[in-house]
Amino acid sequence: MNASSTSAGPPALNTDVRSAEALWPILLGIARARRPEDLSTVPLDTLNWTTDIGWQLQGRWDAQALELFDLFEPLLGSRPAGPGWVIAQLGQSLDGCVATRTGDSSFINGPENLLHLHRLRAMCEAVIVGAGTVAADNPRLTTRRVAGPHPTRVLLDPQLRLAGCLETAHVFNDGQAPTLWLCDARWRDDAVAQAGADRVLAVSGLLRDDATLQLAHAVKALQSRGLTRLFVEGGGVTVSRFLAQRCLDRLHLAVAPIIIGDGRPGLRFEGPARLVDCPRPNCRVYRMGPDHLWDLDLRTST
Ligand SMILES: NC(=O)c1ccc[n+]([C@@H]2O[C@H](COP(=O)([O-])OP(=O)(O)OC[C@H]3O[C@@H](n4cnc5c(N)ncnc54)[C@H](OP(=O)(O)O)[C@@H]3O)[C@@H](O)[C@H]2O)c1
Repeated sequence: MNASSTSAGPPALNTDVRSAEALWPILLGIARARRPEDLSTVPLDTLNWTTDIGWQLQGRWDAQALELFDLFEPLLGSRPAGPGWVIAQLGQSLDGCVATRTGDSSFINGPENLLHLHRLRAMCEAVIVGAGTVAADNPRLTTRRVAGPHPTRVLLDPQLRLAGCLETAHVFNDGQAPTLWLCDARWRDDAVAQAGADRVLAVSGLLRDDATLQLAHAVKALQSRGLTRLFVEGGGVTVSRFLAQRCLDRLHLAVAPIIIGDGRPGLRFEGPARLVDCPRPNCRVYRMGPDHLWDLDLRTST
């Protein structure tokens, strides 16, 4: 109930306890704001920005809302819009697999984490997946579980391994959101012939002669098109490459209480020989239904 008064005096305080559902569109509005005027539609009496502290919640919020704010606050950036960033999420088993050996990954995590996944999509301007994920899952990469805009769908496929899948891939045929086929510039003409120029982002130097992907080139090419907040959604090979090449600011690892055994691996890359040289990023842990979400701040890794 809102406190109200007919006599003159200080403004009435809003004593309602507000929910995560009420907070979500506010967080989304701030995260997607690009210009100061974009924030005019965000009810900023609910959040306060100061240069010293950053964003702070105002008023009374329930425990779920406070946790939602805590988790997403690092993605809100400075007011009105900070620099771009790159976040990844992997849903994995206790033994570090993101799918069974046959590629079955629906669903490792519970519905609470699926909701989180769709919130991450809505917060970002583009969602990136590897070609192996498109081939295995034929994903839609939309935000159908939450209120919020669909991101641009980006298929990271330097050598057009998906050429035979375009007719059946949902992302090329459902008309729900823009889709970009991200390839090395050497395959530009082939890609344009198959998908059309408006669906191809061909990047010079994406694939080195030794076949190593240069992911910083991909990030730069997307950000220079205005897609500044990027979400790498999998699979394990793609997220591992972004991590190993230090192209991630944050990583969400959603660990489910399941043991897969000989499944497709999550994080795998050539690491340091000595434990003392392995990164130990700052992290926070959140309970999400049956899963635990590890939020890793990779900017704090040495
Ligand atoms: N649990 C999760 O969070 C999650 C998220 C997304 C996906 N997944 C699962 O992860 C698996 C895919 O991930 P991933 O790590 O294997 O790959 P990925 O990261 O999606 O894609 C990159 C890898 O796929 C290979 N690839 C390219 N085209 C392919 C094709 N047509 N068929 C098969 N592989 C192809 C690439 O080989 P080259 O480098 O040689 O081109 C590269 O090794 C699927 O089973 C999917 O269900 C799980």
